[in-house]
Amino acid sequence: MKVGVFDSGIGGLTVVKSLLEHQLFEEIIYFGDTARVPYGSKDKNTIIRYAIEAVEFFKNFELDLIIVACNTVSAYALNEMKESATCPVMGVVEAGALATANAMNNKSSNILVIGTNATINSHAYENSLKEQGYSNIQAKATPLFVPLVEEEILDGAILNATLSHYFDSFKAPDALILGCTHFPIISSALSDYFGDKTLLIHSGDAIVEYLQRKFDFYKKYQNPKIEFFASENPEALRNIANKWLYEK
Ligand code: DGL
Repeated sequence: MKVGVFDSGIGGLTVVKSLLEHQLFEEIIYFGDTARVPYGSKDKNTIIRYAIEAVEFFKNFELDLIIVACNTVSAYALNEMKESATCPVMGVVEAGALATANAMNNKSSNILVIGTNATINSHAYENSLKEQGYSNIQAKATPLFVPLVEEEILDGAILNATLSHYFDSFKAPDALILGCTHFPIISSALSDYFGDKTLLIHSGDAIVEYLQRKFDFYKKYQNPKIEFFASENPEALRNIANKWLYEK
């Protein structure tokens, strides 16, 4: 299968990393809208317009599937993308909510969702979890983590201060949904902050779990062909991809 992965910028590489680890696809086309990132502070109509443009871009390749790695786009524009695409489109919100439900048997588990302002304001994760019977859900927009990850501030005083700033009034949840592509990069800091009883839900692993339930992946691809495209400075995206995907 040939898959397109769409994100507002570099963050979707965390989803690509999970796809590569599980060797699911023969070919991956990544598109990051680096010229217009961040999407998390934009309004619904803008996010939908950009997402439809990404679908148009992907029409240059004969894809079997588009994965929307960006939580913000998955929360707002999935239906519109499905309408304009010529192949199936899957988003990380549904996958993340299902992965949470699969991991949390107790419907009164305390679940905390974090993401961009747009994702949190959409209530997409909460709605999906409520439909599955969960009632103890809190959500917090934590947009400062995005530039911190991009500045490679992955531990230390600034990150710790940001963690306290956002989470001082929260007790450790049973599950923490990392509702933004960048957050898996700071998962150790989040685990250290909340303790190891808090289960972190990672969009990349969630989409792999979701795909494996839906499709029969009978073949593994150890060396998939992967191409990176960006709306601005593709070289910078490729450098980060080399670092995040291949460096230990
Ligand atoms: N990729 C976005 C997300 O997962 C985060 C960065 C942005 O705001 O565009 O929501």
